[in-house]
Amino acid sequence: MTPEALKEAFTSADAVFPTVTDRIDAEVLSAEPLRARLIGNFGVGFNNIDVEAAKARDLVVTNTPDVLTDATADLAMTLLLSVARRSGEGERHVRSGSWTGWRPTHMMGTQVTGKVLGLIGFGRIGQAMARRARWGFDMQILFFDPYPPGDDVLRDLGAEARGSIEAVLEASDFVSLHCPATPENRHLISAERLRQMKSGAFLINTARGDVVDESALNDALEKKVIAGAGLDVFEQEPSVLPGLLDRENVVLLPHLGSATRETRVAMGLKVLENAKAFFDGAEPPNRVA
Ligand code: 8YV
Repeated sequence: MTPEALKEAFTSADAVFPTVTDRIDAEVLSAEPLRARLIGNFGVGFNNIDVEAAKARDLVVTNTPDVLTDATADLAMTLLLSVARRSGEGERHVRSGSWTGWRPTHMMGTQVTGKVLGLIGFGRIGQAMARRARWGFDMQILFFDPYPPGDDVLRDLGAEARGSIEAVLEASDFVSLHCPATPENRHLISAERLRQMKSGAFLINTARGDVVDESALNDALEKKVIAGAGLDVFEQEPSVLPGLLDRENVVLLPHLGSATRETRVAMGLKVLENAKAFFDGAEPPNRVA
């Protein structure tokens, strides 16, 4: 929605339910006379909302965790497999009629099974990704997270914590991002950090676009600093850096992390469950501010 339409919503409705495309900033929240008392975000990531500005106007903010964990981890694994096994490239090859038949060295990719997966962020979605990688593909799991889960979770997944992002980057064959898009995490994956990855490694991003310096990534792919990337999120959605669009060793998806029928219904129900609790005078189960 446009800022004007959002302002109108805040003056005419008791609750506003934004999506990732709705930027709820201080200007939108300056709407007068303010009627809304609740922002029920349709999504787990709420970097589209200026939480401090919402609090300053006594608005409660909720989100939709848990219900999209599996769908998002499934998509991260889809990207990992696609970029490693060149499936997007292969599909384009067949559809264009260029395929001339089986050859022993045709479109060889990178083996996934048994490799090292490094996770930046080891919360709900990072752990779900680790389960798939560990139990489905016998991968070794490394991670960096300033707030690691308990030892029982680590034991269960055979996951090993590393003390820094760099330590994860330099040891991993695949790096998957599962951290929130806080101001501190903007361009967390910079040109320098891309250079710390193995030259044969792949970067997977289903978190938020601005966690990666997209132009540095494009440069790193151009110069073969890393082998490829699988991206579901971008810095300026729906725009994608033109250089990335032309690259065969990148898999690009249009922000599909939670896009299954089951998950989107569950997200909608969670928004409503929070709204019901709030308007019944109870504490909403997924209050973030
Ligand atoms: C949602 C997401 O589709 O929940 C999130 O954080 O990125 C997506 O899965 C999106 O936020 C919808 O608003």
